[in-house]
Amino acid sequence: MSYLETAAQFYSEVAQTPQVGLCCVQSTPLQLPGLNIPSKMQEMNYGCGTTVHPTELGNQPTVLYVGVGGGLEALQFAYFSRRPGAVIAVDPVLEMRQAAARNLEIAAKENPWFDTSFVEIREGDAFNLPVPDDSVDIVAQNCLFNIFEPEDLTRALQEAYRVLKPGGRLQMSDPIATRPIPEHLRKDEQLRAMCLSGALPYEEYIQRIISAGFGQVEIRDRRPYRLLDSQTYNLQENLLLESLDSVAFKVIIPEDGACVFTGKTAIYAGSEPFFDDEAGHVLPRGIPASVCDKTAAKLADFMPDKIMITDSTWHYNGGGCC
Ligand SMILES: C[S@@+](CC[C@H](N)C(=O)[O-])C[C@H]1O[C@@H](n2cnc3c(N)ncnc32)[C@H](O)[C@@H]1O
Repeated sequence: MSYLETAAQFYSEVAQTPQVGLCCVQSTPLQLPGLNIPSKMQEMNYGCGTTVHPTELGNQPTVLYVGVGGGLEALQFAYFSRRPGAVIAVDPVLEMRQAAARNLEIAAKENPWFDTSFVEIREGDAFNLPVPDDSVDIVAQNCLFNIFEPEDLTRALQEAYRVLKPGGRLQMSDPIATRPIPEHLRKDEQLRAMCLSGALPYEEYIQRIISAGFGQVEIRDRRPYRLLDSQTYNLQENLLLESLDSVAFKVIIPEDGACVFTGKTAIYAGSEPFFDDEAGHVLPRGIPASVCDKTAAKLADFMPDKIMITDSTWHYNGGGCC
């Protein structure tokens, strides 16, 4: 049996017998006015963060949701799009698709604004998304891609890129590892399926997103997720996993490299009213301007005594220059 089959079997089991908090962190789902999340759906909250960013979901976007789970985030996306077929939710596991469909039926009874036609559940997997090229505004996945082996992660990222419209967004939440996870854990298919041993270090995770073609990546959140303690996991030292929420844009990669926003700002401290690097970055004196990590590094090199670069906040949500 391949590791993907082990994962499918695991998710078939947790679709039939929900296991609160077993797979991923049990967190309070995003609350929205007039949204009632059925308790069955909450029990099946198998995500590790959120991919639903409420301030960016205007204009009723078409969303392809990969790995439907109990349907919680599909319902949250439908809250914004509110039209038939706007959310297409894909899952290879029959029992998971059935559980999500049942939960969405309950949601329709508990939410007057919601109709089950707003979420179309389809059989499919992350490597073969059942939609045409350039056809959706958003691809979202929560706590799924981390279970893939690195080469499969690349395939899944490339497949997401294929189906996104130009300018479209890949919204993800995944565990990342604060140092490489040792081989004996990476090979453990059950732990991998449980989102505990497939996580990559931050740098490799981001690099794989960029290698799939995404020209801009924004980090929305980064926080502690789980501790793999040395005794239980046979490690020399405890290993902290973090959970990372990101949004990657299908835009051309600039010649000097992709823009990754992690919440850094640049602040000009010279004697002029502003600083202009003549490469598109104008910094008014004393006022923080959001910059991507690439620009932050260039500006810091250029004028270390006149430009202060603030640390990554890991809470970037727009604005500034790259
Ligand atoms: C950790 S759960 C996350 C569920 C949901 N995103 C959530 O936040 O609750 C992973 C989901 O991905 C599905 N899945 C497993 N293998 C998959 C694959 N190769 N392609 C797409 N989905 C897959 C599982 O059946 C399950 O629904």
